Amino acid sequence: MNSKTESKKYFKQVSKTNKSVIKKYNKNKKKKNIPLSQYKTSMRDSNNLIEIDNLKTFFYTDMGTVKAVNGISYNIPRGKTVAIVGESGCGKSVSSLSLMRLIQGPVGQIVEGEIRFNVGDHAIDLTKTPIKKMQSIRGNDIAMIFQEPMTSLNPVFRIGNQINEVIELHNSDMDKKEVKEKSINMLKLVGIPRAEGIYDSYPHELSGGMRQRVMIAMALACDPKMIIADEPTTALDVTIQAQILDLLRDLKDKIDASILLITHDLGVVAEMADYVIVMYAGRIVEQGTAEDIYLKPKHPYTVGLLKSKPVVNKYVDRLYTIPGSVPNPIAMPNHCFFKDRCNSCINKCEGEYPCFNNVSDTHKVACWLYERGRKK
Ligand SMILES: Nc1ncnc2c1ncn2[C@@H]1O[C@H](COP(=O)(O)OP(=O)(O)O)[C@@H](O)[C@H]1O
Ligand SMILES: [Mg+2]
Repeated sequence: MNSKTESKKYFKQVSKTNKSVIKKYNKNKKKKNIPLSQYKTSMRDSNNLIEIDNLKTFFYTDMGTVKAVNGISYNIPRGKTVAIVGESGCGKSVSSLSLMRLIQGPVGQIVEGEIRFNVGDHAIDLTKTPIKKMQSIRGNDIAMIFQEPMTSLNPVFRIGNQINEVIELHNSDMDKKEVKEKSINMLKLVGIPRAEGIYDSYPHELSGGMRQRVMIAMALACDPKMIIADEPTTALDVTIQAQILDLLRDLKDKIDASILLITHDLGVVAEMADYVIVMYAGRIVEQGTAEDIYLKPKHPYTVGLLKSKPVVNKYVDRLYTIPGSVPNPIAMPNHCFFKDRCNSCINKCEGEYPCFNNVSDTHKVACWLYERGRKK
């Protein structure tokens, strides 16, 4: 068969798959009044706030199916900070947007898995929770801080009004004076000098770093159980980045919310995270406590990421970069996704995708080098 007929056949298949997926999606969307019994579940461990179990989020594009998140499982314990790290395009944002149910359908969909959210005496599965209920969770329980604060702040309203709005929504018993007082306290909490002046400013009058502080204040204003910060410092310059990270680290001990911190820079999370999850091409390749990952990294990808971060007081001619790039997400190989970039390959790496091997109770790695019985 020549390649033209082959590609025609491929695109016909893609369009057939996409059509059937959209049909199923629309059918599900029409469902109204979903009873709690359909999304009620229970936590495996009540100390966890979130338990993500075999989550798969795919995008049904005209070019084929992008398996952006391809079967990931991890827990977010109450009051702890979990960091997700990995190069750009590894599925970090898609995994957190899935958690918030902010994946744009029908192209993007959660196709499998459970996201258990602890609501006290029981848990709910966020992948099945009705949209109305999800909206209330987003406003009350889980707050998100994005990379570019200017897109999340409304340019035509003063900073104070925008924070007041969040506080009023959550504290209907407060009068105007109390709300204002709380807003100014929130601004002070995130280290804004002259908080009263900033309260009356418009977003464009603030620097990028200040705007990000305002976003953090707004996220905290609803007293959330969890904060998701997706690359919160990437758009800022280096000294401001450090200040925002200091702020987050400082806040971490003052509030009792869990934090999910997403970054492509392993250096950012060293002192902040309790647990680190390393993602590569839609899967988790290694996870453990921060100590496990920083002091005893196992996966060649994690080792590469650590090697490519700058170290203070150490002169290098050129910063190390892992050779190659993330594979095409539409045509993933059957073997380990990192194989073609890895310089520690063994024969087994040609075979099927490696399963997780436990290095310790807290530390596991998906790499054939650490298969049980092999030398470590
Ligand atoms: N709306 C979309 N349509 C198609 N592919 C998408 C879409 N959003 C994200 N992707 C793909 O999903 C993969 C993961 O993306 P993302 O989670 O944004 O990566 P990152 O780790 O940089 O946050 C990438 O290959 C990206 O191209
Ligand atoms: Mg991202």
